[in-house]
Order: sequence, then C-alpha cells, then structure tokens
Amino acid sequence: MDTIIRKITDDDDNNEIIIKTAADIIARGGLVAFPTETVYGLGGDAFDVNASARIYEAKGRPSDNPLIVHIAALEDLYSLTDNVPDKALALAKEFWPGPLTMIVDKKSCVPDTVTGGLSTVAVRLPSHKIARDLIKTSRTFIAAPSANLSGRPSPTRAEHVIEDLSGRVDMIIDGGDIEIGLESTIVDLTEDVPVILRPGYITMEMIEDVIGDVRLDKALMTGVSDGVAPKAPGMKYRHYAPKAELTIIEGERDKVINRINSFVEEGRRRNCKVGVMLTAETYDMVEADVKISLGSGDSNEEIARNLFATLREFDETGVDVIYSEGFGDNGLGQAVMNRLLKAAGHRVIKV
Ligand code: TXA
Ligand code: MG
Repeated sequence: MDTIIRKITDDDDNNEIIIKTAADIIARGGLVAFPTETVYGLGGDAFDVNASARIYEAKGRPSDNPLIVHIAALEDLYSLTDNVPDKALALAKEFWPGPLTMIVDKKSCVPDTVTGGLSTVAVRLPSHKIARDLIKTSRTFIAAPSANLSGRPSPTRAEHVIEDLSGRVDMIIDGGDIEIGLESTIVDLTEDVPVILRPGYITMEMIEDVIGDVRLDKALMTGVSDGVAPKAPGMKYRHYAPKAELTIIEGERDKVINRINSFVEEGRRRNCKVGVMLTAETYDMVEADVKISLGSGDSNEEIARNLFATLREFDETGVDVIYSEGFGDNGLGQAVMNRLLKAAGHRVIKV
C-alpha cells in the first residue's frame, strides 16, 4: 500500500487540506497516523468494525487489547456511555482536553472490536490541535492506539511512525516532535475507588487532589510474573523493549555509576558492545561504547520526552547489552519507571 505522508507547517490553508484529506480517509474506513500531545496515534473510525480490524493488523497487535476512543468535546463522552460517574466528570473538567484516558461502562453502540470484548470503553479528549481538528473534521470518534508496531516503543517523532508503519497505513501526518513523550494516564472509573491502570503525565497526586483516594494497579510496577495480571490488557504484553538486553541499576548515584563502569569493563573483556543510558549529570562519569543522555536528571519531563526515542536509538547502534540508571518513582517518575521497567523486562539490580 502507498502511504501518503504530509507535514504540518505554518501554512494554515495547506494544513486544512491535510486535515481534510485525512478526515476523508478515516470516513472511508482507512487508517491515519496523527500527532497527539502524548505520542503519535494510529486512527480509524471507532464505529467501523473493519477499521479496528485494520488497526490490529497494521500494528501486529493482539485483538484482545482494546483501543482508546478519542473524542473532540466533553459532551461526546455521553455518546459512548450512559454512566458518567461524578468523579469522571470532575477529572474531565480538570484535565480534559489533555493526557488522561478514562475507563467507563460502554454503550452498546461501541463495537466489541474496539473494546476487545470488554463491557467498558477507554475514552480520551486530546489537547493537540491536529488531533482535535482531525476528530472534528472526520465527524466521528477516532479509535487510536499508539502508532508503533506492537512491542516497539511508542512513536514520539514522525520518523518513528514512518519506520514502523510506512506501507501499512493510508496516511501519516507529520506534526513534528511530541511534547510529552509518554502515553496518557489511564484511570478506571468503574470501581468505587478509581484505579490507575497506566501512570502518565497526569500523576497520581494530581488525580487525588481532584477526586480523593485512588489506587495504583498493583501489577504495574512488578510485572505479570508475580501472578497478578494488570487490568489494562495492553500492560501485560512485553513492550518498548530494545533489541539488546536492558538492565536497570538502582541505588545511590556513586554506587550506580561504579557498578555500570564495572559492567562496561566486563563487557569489554567479553568483546561485548555495551550501551549506557545516562543523565546529563552522569554522562561524563562513564566510559562506554555507546552513551546516550536522557536529559537532566532534575527534569522528569525531559526524561519522559526522550525515553522512547532513546530506546529506538540504541537499536541502531548495534549494542549487545544496555545499562540504565533508575529514576525516582514519585510524580512523573512513576510513569517513566513504569515504561523503563517494561523495556527492561523488570531486570533490576539494586546496589
Ligand atoms: O496517549 C495515549 O493514550 C495514546 C494516544 C495515541 O492517545 N494511545 C495509546 O493507546 O497509548 P494504546 O492502545 O497504545 O494503549 C491503550 C491502553 C492499552 O494498554 C489497553 O489495554 C488499555 O489502554 N485499554 C483500552 N481500553 C481499555 C479498557 N476498556 N479497560 C482497560 N484497559 C483498556
Ligand atoms: Mg501502545
């Protein structure tokens, strides 16, 4: 399949044509990858059963892993559910449009293909202008997972989408680099005490400030190996993993750096190409074959924004193993560590 690739520029008329072309493709049952404030999404008409089937196929994604339905206005939520809990409304008023997805009971009009057969639906009102214009112009709601091949890091640059999906989808809208870089926070509002199924830019603390107590899905930071499956089906799959084996070293900074340096030496002796993922502050403290800095260790925002691109970058360097520092898991650090732990298959060494 030929994939149309169009870049958003500061020429409004041209952008309008791009959105119109993309909306026509969605309306005809086709697939369009587009930027959101979190990561790039791969969109299709949420009410078109064939479009969701095509999304699963293009990503190589298991069809029991449900999609998020993207809407353009808060009122649209009422078209997808008969039951809007007060807490959902409070969160929507505070954080929508923005990087928050809410799980609510679904109406029968929402196809089972979108929800993976679940009785609930994931809904998100994105803040990115292109995403919102596309939803409005296509006059439907857009079911969209992240626009990567299943198992790969979510795309934060148009090049990532082109690399994974070119030839597999009808159109890719290049909206430049993404601001947040981690997927939306997912909160399940169907439980009495709402549950965070996936940490993200909207942190647990921010949510608790609005609706009081919430729980963090236990399986999130520990992985499925402990016997409890995460409630968001997508969180149970191996994800984000670079080709090389990634290990996280956690502990006091000096000890972490010492341990990483000894792993690098050991790798040299074994003729193994070692990659290290660092922060701006620790970059000069390690001598490795390949070093990549995620940004300042003082800015979880910066680390979040660079994480997925860095994991992809390592694949191009041909390293055999990768070591990474750990990051605190308060606030946004929780989301960063959740993705990093998954990428590492939960391989952590504490020093
Ligand atoms: O930021 C985002 O959320 C991006 C952009 C494109 O909006 N989308 C995204 O979609 O990350 P995806 O498909 O990669 O992740 C959706 C997650 C999966 O883990 C899926 O299992 C979970 O949401 N999910 C969807 N519907 C659900 C439901 N009804 N109950 C529980 N989990 C659900
Ligand atoms: Mg995804």
